[in-house]
Amino acid sequence: MNFELKSLPSQRAAQHVTDILTVLVTNLPKTASDPLGTLLVQAQRAGDFQAKPGQTLSMWKVPGFRASRLVLVGAGDGQPRQLRQALSAAAAAIKTAKARHATVLLPAGQEAQSAVAVQAIADGNYVYTATKPSAEAAALKTVVLGVADTSAAKTAFKEGCARVAGMTLAREWGNRPANHATPAHLAKVAQSLGREPGIRCEVMGPAEVKRLGMGSFMAVAQGSEESLRFIVLQYRKRGSTSRQAPVVLVGKGITFDTGGISLKPGAGMDEMKFDMCGAASVLGTFKALADLQPDVPVVGLIPTCENMPDGRALKPGDVVTSMSGQTIEILNTDAEGRLILCDALTYAKRFKPQAVIDIATLTGACVIALGHHRSGLFASDDALALALEQAGDRAFDPCWRMPLDDEYAEGLKSNFADVANVGDRSAGSVTAAKFLQRFAGEAPWAHLDIAGTAWKSGGAKGATGRPVGLLLSYLLHLPTTASGNSAGKAGSKRKTTKA
Ligand code: BES
Ligand code: MN
Ligand code: ZN
Repeated sequence: MNFELKSLPSQRAAQHVTDILTVLVTNLPKTASDPLGTLLVQAQRAGDFQAKPGQTLSMWKVPGFRASRLVLVGAGDGQPRQLRQALSAAAAAIKTAKARHATVLLPAGQEAQSAVAVQAIADGNYVYTATKPSAEAAALKTVVLGVADTSAAKTAFKEGCARVAGMTLAREWGNRPANHATPAHLAKVAQSLGREPGIRCEVMGPAEVKRLGMGSFMAVAQGSEESLRFIVLQYRKRGSTSRQAPVVLVGKGITFDTGGISLKPGAGMDEMKFDMCGAASVLGTFKALADLQPDVPVVGLIPTCENMPDGRALKPGDVVTSMSGQTIEILNTDAEGRLILCDALTYAKRFKPQAVIDIATLTGACVIALGHHRSGLFASDDALALALEQAGDRAFDPCWRMPLDDEYAEGLKSNFADVANVGDRSAGSVTAAKFLQRFAGEAPWAHLDIAGTAWKSGGAKGATGRPVGLLLSYLLHLPTTASGNSAGKAGSKRKTTKA
C-alpha cells in the first residue's frame, strides 16, 4: 500500500479522480457554492447526515463528482477520539468497496492528524498474502491523503508512513506460519534490513552462541530440528556525531511454541506461531528507524528458535547454566521465553545502554490480567516507565504498569539451582518479569508483555503490529543531545526504584 500526500482543498474535491473518495466532515456548512459543500448542505437538510462521529453516507457516481464512489464520514467535533472513530469508518468503507485507489480528505485544520489517518487506513486495509496470494486481488494499492495545507501535514504524514511500514513488517512476519518463518527466515529479514541506511546486522548461529555461553537459550533450542539464530541489529543515524548510549530492544523470537516436553494442549496451538511477535516488533521498529533517520542509537537483539518436544529436548528438572553464570532449574519447559531472553539481556550489557527494553509474548497470565487492550509494562525505573506509558498513549498502543516487588520472586527459589524458571500459578506475568529482572544489568530496564496485544484471535485472527507504535514513539521522543548522554550520566540522573 502506497501513501501520497496531496493538497486538496474541499472546493476542488469534486474534480478529484479516484475509486473512492472518503470525506471526513466536522463542520457542516449552512450555505456553499462548491459541489461538495452544496452536497453537505443538502444531506444535512434532508436529515441524512449530521457528521456524528463514525456516521457514513455512501453514494455512487454522484453527478458533478469524478470519483466513482463518494462517502461522507462524520468526525463529530474533530477531537482526536472522534476523528479516530471517523477514520476507522473511512477505512471500513474503503475495504467494503474493494477499491484499488482511495482518497481520504481530512478536514481543514486537522493536518497534524495525518499520522493517525495513515495508520487507521493502513490498519483497516492490511491484507495478508504470503501464503494466500489470492487475497492480493482485493488489496488496496494507493491511498491519497488530501489536506488543505500539505506543509502543516508533512512531518506527521512521514511519521505515520514509517510507523505503518514498521507495523506492516511486524504483522507480516507475525502472521507467517512457523514453516514459513523459521529462525533462519527471521535472520534473512534482519539481514535485508541491514542493507537499509544506518542499519548494521550480524547473525550468529549455534557455534557462536555456544562460544558466548548462552546455555539457557541453547537449552530451549535443543529439541528442534531448526537451528537457532541470535540476531544483532544496530541503528545509528547516518553521519551522526552523537555520543549518546544506545537503547537496546530485545525481542522474543520463538517461531513456534509447542510447550516442549511440558506440551501445550492441542486446541488453539496454531496461535503459538505468533510467539515471535516480540522479535517482529523489533524488526518493524528498525524498518521505521531506517525510514525516519532519528538521531538516536538503537540496538536490537533477537534470540530466535523453536520450542519442541523431542528425544533431545529439555526435560522438567533439568538444570542449565545461563550466560550470566546463574544456574536455572527448568520446572516447566513451556516457560521458555524467559530462558532465551535472559541470555540476550546478559548480552545487552556490552552496549553500555541508556535503557534496555524487552518485548515478549511471555505469559498467558498477562492476558488474564489485562486482556487485549493494554500490554503489560514492568520497569525497574520510574522515568523509563513513564516515558513508555506516554509513548503508548501517543501512539494509541497503550500499556499498563505492573508491580515488581521482591515478594513476587519468592516462588522462584530452587533447591537445585540459583533460580527456578517458574513459580506457582499466582501472578504469573509478574513472576516471569521477576525472573527476567535477575538478568537485567545496571541500566534502566523495562519488560513489555505483549501476550494479549500482539495478535487477535477468532474471525479477525492475525498479528496487530503492536507494540511498534509504542516503541517508535518512545524512541522519537528521547532527548537527542549531540554532546551525548553517557550511560553512566543517564543512569545516575534517573531514580531507580528498589525492586
Ligand atoms: N508463549 C507463551 C505465552 C502465551 C500463552 C502467550 C498463551 C499468549 C497466549 C509462553 O511461552 C508460555 O507458554 N507461558 C506459560 C508460562 C507458564 C508455564 C508459567 C503460560 O503462560 O502458560
Ligand atoms: Mn511457552
Ligand atoms: Zn512462548
